[in-house]
Amino acid sequence: MEGLVIRNLTKVYYDPYMGQHVVAVEDVSLTIGPGEFVAILGPSGCGKTTLLNMVAGFIPPTRGEILLNGRRITGPGPDRGVVFQSFALFPWKTVLDNVAFGLKMRGLPRAERERIAREYIALVGLEGFEHRYPHELSGGMQQRVGVARVLANDPELMLMDEPFASVDAQTRMSLQEELARIWELRHPTILFVTHDVEEAVFLANRVVILTHRPGRVRTILEVPLPRPRRWRDLLEDSTYKALVAHVFDLLRSPQEPARPVEKPAPIPHPPSRTGEPQRSWWRRFLGSRLGRALLVVMLGAGTWQGWLEYQARTKMPGFLERYRSPRGTVDLLVELPFPPERFHILTLQRFGRVSGTREHAVELRSVPLPRVREIARLYWVRGLLPLSEAPQIPP
Ligand SMILES: Nc1ncnc2c1ncn2[C@@H]1O[C@H](COP(=O)(O)OP(=O)(O)OP(=O)(O)O)[C@@H](O)[C@H]1O
Ligand SMILES: [Mg+2]
Repeated sequence: MEGLVIRNLTKVYYDPYMGQHVVAVEDVSLTIGPGEFVAILGPSGCGKTTLLNMVAGFIPPTRGEILLNGRRITGPGPDRGVVFQSFALFPWKTVLDNVAFGLKMRGLPRAERERIAREYIALVGLEGFEHRYPHELSGGMQQRVGVARVLANDPELMLMDEPFASVDAQTRMSLQEELARIWELRHPTILFVTHDVEEAVFLANRVVILTHRPGRVRTILEVPLPRPRRWRDLLEDSTYKALVAHVFDLLRSPQEPARPVEKPAPIPHPPSRTGEPQRSWWRRFLGSRLGRALLVVMLGAGTWQGWLEYQARTKMPGFLERYRSPRGTVDLLVELPFPPERFHILTLQRFGRVSGTREHAVELRSVPLPRVREIARLYWVRGLLPLSEAPQIPP
């Protein structure tokens, strides 16, 4: 599939200060064909920049996917050029070097990249300013350099986030006319984000209107205005005026209120450096390799203890009370699955007095009744018998 395909795109931010999740963009699906000029229009804070940043590959979507000419977008790439609201030029480079920067990165020889850069500088009307530095230019001129820089890289998709918002009204109009002219000339694929209704209608072939946050596609309008488009002609054009009025009405008409919270998070955590929600220490610990190893060991130990406890019950002799001496002790025959060794005798001596050994057993006397269970829990003990009940061995 050629062009840009956005499928069921959702972005949920975690706001660490409010301790809640914010749905910025919700289930947006959109297709932009090659050579199309599409404007995304929506109120402030509705998620336009978020949408654009996901297409640029600067932030990952929470759900959904984005394909550019059939390739899935997973990060930033030279196939997309972004013109930001702030001019974002290199202040230490001249206009020529700023525009030629991407070409230099792609390894084009100096003469070639300067030829291309000069062509685009002329296209945005900055001929003669090639050797000026950004601080020597007006805001409008700096933004033209930004546009030229992106165009010079010949991206498959041009992304623009309110690029003319920070220049004065007059300059903005001339920049808009220039962008329209460039599009009419070269037909780059453009996704243009704005909250300015007139700008969207003036520039685009289609206007996508988003709802209040969370940004969802509310309506998509075709703009049937002829080209070339010039402000002087359009301001009196009845189709233009009707379209702008219609869009204003759409933006003002009631809709569902903003839905800030997807799920409450009662304990706010400080923001992590990546801006992702920070997990509590024990979650992070269990997520680590050491934490997981410890968990496995603890589960294993717990299971083992449970098994010993269960076994102990089957090894204990019944009616033990009956064999209790006046001092509250019992004499036991501790059965083993093998001949007793020094280790077993030493261990059993902690519970009572070893009075003798047999082929597969140890005679243990004066064991306090409450400690019998501890002997039964020893994994190498097969069974316990009151000594008086045990078969006597002939001397
Ligand atoms: N990094 C972030 N962390 C948490 N919330 C964010 C983050 N970025 C944006 N938001 C929230 O997401 C919502 C959409 O923000 P976004 O910048 O995409 O809006 P916008 O439509 O571009 O607004 P504007 O027209 O003012 O530029 C806002 O409510 C904002 O507070
Ligand atoms: Mg924005």
